Amino acid sequence: MDDDGVPDARTLIVKGVDGRGWAFASQRSSRKGAQLSGQPVAALDFWWQPVMRAVRMRGAVQPATRAESDADFAARSPAARAGVDPADWALWRIIPTRVEFWQGSPDRRHTRVVYTSDAGRWAHSASIE
Ligand SMILES: Cc1cc2nc3c(=O)[nH]c(=O)nc-3n(C[C@H](O)[C@H](O)[C@H](O)COP(=O)(O)O)c2cc1C
Repeated sequence: MDDDGVPDARTLIVKGVDGRGWAFASQRSSRKGAQLSGQPVAALDFWWQPVMRAVRMRGAVQPATRAESDADFAARSPAARAGVDPADWALWRIIPTRVEFWQGSPDRRHTRVVYTSDAGRWAHSASIE
């Protein structure tokens, strides 16, 4: 999201999902890096057409440790490392506050399961929409 509150969508590789959040990596000096410095929030959306399932989530973004960013950079191929300053490479995590699981239905009565986090306590609800 830029300083005017306008979001940007981008295709990124999810580097891992665990209790610490959903990880992704990029150059700190990129446009997205600047936007994350100003507004540390992000959203993700995944869609699996063969099974008609989607996952969407949103949350605050936190930088990982320098060691984690260095390890991610080291795991990249030589071609992917070329021309990138290792000090500029960063791993971030989105800490989810809301995650939705959708099961699509051919009759368009899709199932929506919503998980929301309030101070670390998760609640969930389900509906047909
Ligand atoms: C398949 C695919 C995977 C990508 N993975 C990443 C990624 O993991 N990290 C990244 O910074 N950019 C990745 N990109 C490029 C981003 O989508 C984005 O366009 C680019 O980083 C420029 O963003 P900017 O607005 O910060 O300049 C990927 C693009 C594609 C098509």
